[in-house]
Amino acid sequence: MAAMGLDKHVNGRRCLQSRRSRIILGVFVFIAILAVVIPPAVVVTLRKKNGMGPKANIFVPLYVYPAPGAWDPLEQEISTHPEANFTVVINPGSGPGPDALPDANYTREIPKLASYDNVRLLGYVATTWAKRNISAVRRDIETYAQWPTNSSNPKIAVRGIFFDEAPQQYDEDALSYLQELTTLVKSLSGLGPDKFVVHNPGAIPDSRYMSTADSTVVFEESYDTFNERNGTKQFEVLPNNNRSQLCIVIHSVPDQVEGSKLKDLVKKLRKTADEIFVTHLTTDYYANFGGRWGEFVDWMAK
Ligand SMILES: *[C@@H]1O[C@H](CO)[C@@H](O)[C@H](O)[C@H]1NC(C)=O
Ligand SMILES: *[C@@H]1O[C@H](CO)[C@@H](O)[C@H](O)[C@H]1NC(C)=O
Ligand SMILES: *[C@@H]1O[C@H](CO)[C@@H](O)[C@H](O)[C@H]1NC(C)=O
Ligand SMILES: *[C@@H]1O[C@H](CO)[C@@H](O)[C@H](O)[C@H]1NC(C)=O
Ligand SMILES: *[C@@H]1O[C@H](CO)[C@@H](O)[C@H](O)[C@H]1NC(C)=O
Ligand SMILES: *[C@@H]1O[C@H](CO)[C@@H](O)[C@H](O)[C@H]1NC(C)=O
Repeated sequence: MAAMGLDKHVNGRRCLQSRRSRIILGVFVFIAILAVVIPPAVVVTLRKKNGMGPKANIFVPLYVYPAPGAWDPLEQEISTHPEANFTVVINPGSGPGPDALPDANYTREIPKLASYDNVRLLGYVATTWAKRNISAVRRDIETYAQWPTNSSNPKIAVRGIFFDEAPQQYDEDALSYLQELTTLVKSLSGLGPDKFVVHNPGAIPDSRYMSTADSTVVFEESYDTFNERNGTKQFEVLPNNNRSQLCIVIHSVPDQVEGSKLKDLVKKLRKTADEIFVTHLTTDYYANFGGRWGEFVDWMAK
């Protein structure tokens, strides 16, 4: 801009100068446009290089008894991957157990996990396909919700409930049973701040159930079954393909599915679901950490 004022007198020169200043202005505009366009372009390129698509939470059915050191493989991954979020289901005794608080191994280990910002703990509750006495289910939920007050420790707490053995086929009574339980969870401050509700039918259920949970386990089977059902294609039937509400659990993944093969599996799953667990264990899938547990977390965290 300032260059324009300098070249008033000589016509020819002025002409040259103003063309030059127009060129200079043009260069500035060009640079300004590049400055706006390049950063998003670079980000897109980086995303393409990473190639992993959207992030998803690492879902861990932690049916491991917390003997001293037993939860260390989990805590190790949580602490070294603050960029990944973990949803961890704890299960002291097919639920919270008969007492107001679980045993001393649990009350020692739970606060450790609960203190990480990237961890959301959920309490396991069995529903026996919506047939279990709902009073007993309510009592389990309320027991979890009272942990922080009963222990006077805000870190002995869960932030939601994992309802196991949820039904698949539509049934009016089952739906109102599950709706009542969701309403209860959402009303209890002891399950806050998330008050997260997960249903586990282990397969795609009637969609009316799905809208009463924050997330639904739509697959809990072996790797072979996953492939026999055409991999992630089987989930395309879901309403709006609503990834934020889906959880996928795959066990018995063959040992040779590692490196780039494990990466491709995780990438496909991340595109489909927001909560994912993959294990190479072929028995007691959730009572231990498989040999490729760390590698799975690495691909989830990328
Ligand atoms: C804690 O776990 C250890 C190892 O399994 C066990 O020996 C001990 O009895 C447990 N403590 C309690 C209070 O249950
Ligand atoms: C992890 O959770 C936090 C808190 O809910 C959220 O802000 C963050 O975006 C999440 N990160 C990923 C990678 O999902
Ligand atoms: C469920 O349990 C409550 C309390 O233990 C009991 O009063 C009630 O009769 C039970 N209901 C059924 C249908 O068994
Ligand atoms: C914790 O629960 C036990 C057993 O129900 C009860 O006796 C005790 O009063 C409770 N403590 C608090 C602080 O709520
Ligand atoms: C898998 O895909 C094939 C070809 O599209 C189809 O014929 C078959 O029915 C599918 N299997 C399942 C279990 O969806
Ligand atoms: C996800 O599902 C919920 C409840 O079923 C629905 O309200 C919402 O519109 C869906 N979102 C997308 C993106 O499909």
